Amino acid sequence: MQRSLVAGWRCLVCGAHVDVGEPLAWRCPNSSAADRRHELAVVAAEAPLTDPGLDQAEAVNPFLAFREHLVWDGFAAANGMTAAARAILLDDLDQRVAAVAGTGFRITPFARHEALSAELGFTTDGGVWVKDETGNVGGSHKARHLFTILAQLVTLESLGRAPWASTGRPDLAIASCGNAAVAAATLAAAVGWPIRVFVPEWAGGPVMSRLTELQATVVTCPRRPEDPPGDPCVLRFREAVAAGAIPFSVQGPENAWCLDGGRTIGWEMATQIARLDASGLDHVVVQVGAGALAACAAAGLRAGGIGARIHAMQTEACAPLERAWRRAADAGGADHAADRWAACMWPWEPVGQTAADGIVDDETYDWLPVVEAMATTGGGPVVSQEHDVLRGWQLVRDVAGIDASATGAAGVAGLLTLLDRGAIDPDQRVAVIVSGVQRR
Ligand SMILES: Cc1ncc(COP(=O)(O)O)c(C=O)c1O
Ligand SMILES: [Zn+2]
Repeated sequence: MQRSLVAGWRCLVCGAHVDVGEPLAWRCPNSSAADRRHELAVVAAEAPLTDPGLDQAEAVNPFLAFREHLVWDGFAAANGMTAAARAILLDDLDQRVAAVAGTGFRITPFARHEALSAELGFTTDGGVWVKDETGNVGGSHKARHLFTILAQLVTLESLGRAPWASTGRPDLAIASCGNAAVAAATLAAAVGWPIRVFVPEWAGGPVMSRLTELQATVVTCPRRPEDPPGDPCVLRFREAVAAGAIPFSVQGPENAWCLDGGRTIGWEMATQIARLDASGLDHVVVQVGAGALAACAAAGLRAGGIGARIHAMQTEACAPLERAWRRAADAGGADHAADRWAACMWPWEPVGQTAADGIVDDETYDWLPVVEAMATTGGGPVVSQEHDVLRGWQLVRDVAGIDASATGAAGVAGLLTLLDRGAIDPDQRVAVIVSGVQRR
């Protein structure tokens, strides 16, 4: 059998190792109800990314193109699935996703945006490269994170190793009322898997309608008097998982497998930039809510040899990552951040108002890999004021011509703030991720 590139997982906090073939090993073995402060990171051999042939990018499924780099691939191989069977399983699952979502997973567009670069005053040496996720499955990048979790579940069934074979499938569970909820319900519907979505009391609008169409069970989560601090939806989600539900989560500490497929975005960007223009990127500005997007984009870019500075963007309304970065710096820097989780990261209160409401997670759950990526690349956090959020959103809609939400456009807001500060030069090359579509 072909040796896998991926050895498994290692916890950044306690060092525990999880073997690649271990089924349903979603969290660090030392993570508990009382202490969720653990973060598994992928342990993989360094291997060059194969160029997936971007001339036909629209036709290429990134999970197939970068298959050998996935933890999922090592998992399926370790459990006896041949390479041919692995490729068939991914393709088959993708077709089922496409039947529900209207599209399967395809490498998304990434190019220098001429008008936006000119509008922001970049020279021809520099510019803004836009990764457009608005046409991805479920209208955002979120399904990338969830696809590898689903692939593991389907793999266990196809190998006859699913522990639920005689009892029936356990529910999937997710705490979200935004893009992640839509992505999760879309993937669940693709395979007819029951899903419970934990949402706040005030949730409504187009996301809720889509969840209903997709036949997800929506569970409203008011704060209870006895609840500890933090998001009550996350508390109810954890209770469901403790009672047997599968954590279909886009937060690494709840399910590290979301950090597997999420890396496809960085692998795509790295191979796309290498193909289009060999001079690489100087900066990447990524909007951060719970942190998995930035962690995965950074990991994927690093694997592709792109050493751009990673800037994690948050808004003034909610900036726990920037606070954690300062706290960690005061106490000796990013190298020792893992030992000081409790002293660096805790819920942001009160959360303010912003148009970029998809990145107001009161805790940056995946803060550790983001802090590490910012430190190793010479980047850092950026906190944008609301006027930049609104102007960035307007630029993405009117100049870039992308029908993004304010959250989806927030990387451009971070870029505006960095340009204002003189932290980015007009002859440098900057990438942003327009991560989600405007729903109506
Ligand atoms: C469109 C969009 N972009 C970015 C993010 C932030 O991703 P993360 O929570 O992984 O930091 C979200 C999260 O909800 C989102 O919906
Ligand atoms: Zn651990």
